Amino acid sequence: MNETTRIQELRKQLNDHNHRYYVLSAPTISDYEFDILLKELEELEEKHPELNDINSPSVRVGGSISKNFETVKHEYPMLSLSNSYSKEELIDFLERTEKSLGGNCSFVCELKYDGVAIGIKYRNGFFYQAVTRGDGEKGDDVSNNVRTIKSIPLQLLDSDYPEEFEIRGEIIMPKSVFRELNQKLSEQGLQNYANPRNTASGTLKLQDSSLVSQRKLDCFLYGIYAKSAVANSHFDSVMKAGMWGFKIPEPTKNRIKLCNNLNEIMDFIAYWDNERHSLDFDIDGVVIKVNEYHNQADLGFTAKSPRWAIAYKFKAETARTQLHKVSFQVGRTGAITPVANLEPVLLAGTTVKRASLHNADIIEKLDIRENDFVFVEKGGEIIPKIVGVDLAARNSGSPRFEYIKNCPECGSELVRREGEAQHYCPNEYGCKPQVVGKMQHFISRKAMDINGMGEETIVQLHEVGLISNAADLYTLKAAQLLPLERMAEKSVENIVLGIEESKKQSFERVLFALGIRHVGETVAKKLAKHFKSMQAILDASEEDLVNVPEIGEVIAQSIQHYFSDERNCELVKSLQNAGLQLELNETETVLDSEVFLGKTIVVSGVFEQFEREELKKIIEKHGGKNGSSVTGKTDYLLAGSGVGPSKLEKAEKLKVVILSENEFIKLIEEA
Ligand code: IVH
Repeated sequence: MNETTRIQELRKQLNDHNHRYYVLSAPTISDYEFDILLKELEELEEKHPELNDINSPSVRVGGSISKNFETVKHEYPMLSLSNSYSKEELIDFLERTEKSLGGNCSFVCELKYDGVAIGIKYRNGFFYQAVTRGDGEKGDDVSNNVRTIKSIPLQLLDSDYPEEFEIRGEIIMPKSVFRELNQKLSEQGLQNYANPRNTASGTLKLQDSSLVSQRKLDCFLYGIYAKSAVANSHFDSVMKAGMWGFKIPEPTKNRIKLCNNLNEIMDFIAYWDNERHSLDFDIDGVVIKVNEYHNQADLGFTAKSPRWAIAYKFKAETARTQLHKVSFQVGRTGAITPVANLEPVLLAGTTVKRASLHNADIIEKLDIRENDFVFVEKGGEIIPKIVGVDLAARNSGSPRFEYIKNCPECGSELVRREGEAQHYCPNEYGCKPQVVGKMQHFISRKAMDINGMGEETIVQLHEVGLISNAADLYTLKAAQLLPLERMAEKSVENIVLGIEESKKQSFERVLFALGIRHVGETVAKKLAKHFKSMQAILDASEEDLVNVPEIGEVIAQSIQHYFSDERNCELVKSLQNAGLQLELNETETVLDSEVFLGKTIVVSGVFEQFEREELKKIIEKHGGKNGSSVTGKTDYLLAGSGVGPSKLEKAEKLKVVILSENEFIKLIEEA
C-alpha cells in the first residue's frame, strides 16, 4: 500500500476509534493500540506535508497557536432562553404555546448544561469552523481549540447530512477533570479555579491548543441549523445528529425525553433535580422545547429568545446562617485566604461550618460584616460560597469589614501584586505557616515521601526549634527526638530510617520537593530529564528554560526567581552536602511511573504487541525488576502464549499474580 492511501486509511480508522471511545463509550482497541496508529499517522504526515489536512485526527493533540481569535458573524443569531423557576410558570408556558398553536404539540425535555455555548459548522461532512456565542451576533473563531475536543467529529460518519449546516451545543469540563486540575494546582501551591464552567470558558480561549487538548473538554449538542430542516421535529434531528457521529443525550438514560403533558415534564424535572449530582458535569436546570418544527415556526421569537422553548432553572441549594468571624489562612506560598466561620447549618446533605471568601474584592463586593446573617449556596463548586447578606437582619451600626493589612501569623505587611486578587505575606522564611508548609510539602508522599513522618511531626519539630528548613531534617539525631512528647523509641527509629532512606529519592522528586511555584510533579520530571542536574538548572538562562518543551515563561521566571534568592541556593547546597540526589544517576532514567516499584516480574511466552525484550525494558521504566525464574520473591508472571508450563505451575503454587499482556498494558496505562 502506498503511503498516501495509508494516511487516508489511518485517518478513517482513528476517526472511527475516537467516535467509539468518546461518543459511544465502547472502544474496540486499547489506548496503547490507538497511540501506535496515531504515531504512525503523525510520522507519515511529517513525511508528506503536501497531504496536510486540518481535520486529520492528529490535530486532536493540538499544537497550533492562536495569537488572537478572529471575530465571526453568526449566520443564525445565538439567542438565549427565557427562564422559569416554578411549576406555575411552566403551566403558563404550556398554556401560552398550546393556545397559540391550537393544541397538537409535543415537547422535548433536555438537560440545561452549565457550560459555554458553541456553534460548529460543517461543510460536506467536515468540521469547518467553531465560534463562541460572543454577544449573540458575533463571536470568536476558536476552531483550532475545538478541534482538540475528542467527542466532536472532524469528519462525519457516512449518512444523510446536509451539505452545509451548523450544530450548536455546550462545551463543558467534566467535574472529575476540574477536580484533578485543581488538585494539581494545589500541589504547586497555586490558586484553584472557581468552577468547571469558567474553567471551560477560559480553556477555550487558551492560545496553545495542545493545552486545550490536555484539559479533556467535552461537548453536548442541542440544536441543528440548516437551510432546509433535516427532519420534521427537534427530537428526530437530534437522533440524526447521533447517526452522523455527534455525542447526543441518550433517551435510554432519560437525558432527553419526549413529553406530551405537564406531568411528564414535571417528572423529568423532578428526576434531574434529584439526580443532577450524580452526573460528571454540571447542569443548572432543564430545557423544554416544542418538538415539531412547524409549531416552532408558528410560535417564532421575541427579540431575545425563542417562544417555543423555556428553561426551568433548579434552585441552587441555599441556607441562611450567621457569620461569626472572618479568619485568615496563610498557605505555603504565602497566599492569604479569608475564611467565613459560620454557625453550622445543613446544606445539600452536609453540615457547613466554613466557607471560603476567596479574596478582599469578594468581601468588599458583598459588603459582608461580622455577625451578619448570610446566604450560603452550594453551586457547581465543591466548597460552599456566600452569595448574599440578609441586610434586613443586620445590626444597625455594624462597622464595615476592614481587610487585614498585616499577616495574621507573623505581622508582616501584606502585599498585593498588580493584576492579582490575592494578598500575599512576603515573609517567606520567617512566617510560620509558610516555613512549616514548605517542609510538609518536602516530606509529602509525592515528594521525598519520608516514612514515619507526618505533617504533625513537622509542626512539633519546628515548634521545639529543631528544624527551620528541609535541610535541617538531615541533621536530626535520635537523641534529639527521644525526649520529645509522643516520641517512642520505635517511632524515632522509623523517622531516622525514613530520613536516611529519603536520600535515595530521585533527582526529579528532590526538585519537586523544593516547592518552587509552578514546578509540580510533571514539570519537575521534564526539567530533570532535560537538564540532568540541579547545577544545570541553576545555570540555565530564562531562554534555556523556555526552550524545554512545555516549559513556558511563567514557569521559567518562577524558577529564576527562586534561585535568585541566596537562601534557596544555600538550602540546595545543604541538601547536596546531606547526600541527596541532585543529578540524574547515569544509569538511572526518569521512571515513566512507579507502578512496578520494588516488584519482580518474570516474562514468559510470546506476545502479540511486544517483543519480550521490549516488555523487559517497559518493566524497568515503570520501576520493576526482571526475574528469570519464578521464586518466592516473584510478584508477577507476565504470561504470553506458550508460557513455560513449569513456570505457570510454580506461579500458581506460590500464588504469584499471573498477568496477561492486556492486563499488563492496562496497568501501565492507568499508571
Ligand atoms: S437551546 C435559542 N438547549 O443555555 C436558544 N440551550 O440561556 C437555544 N443551554 O445559550 C438554546 N443547555 O448555551 C438549549 N439543552 C439546551 C441547553 C442550552 C444549555 C444554554 C445555551 C444557551 C443558554 C440559554
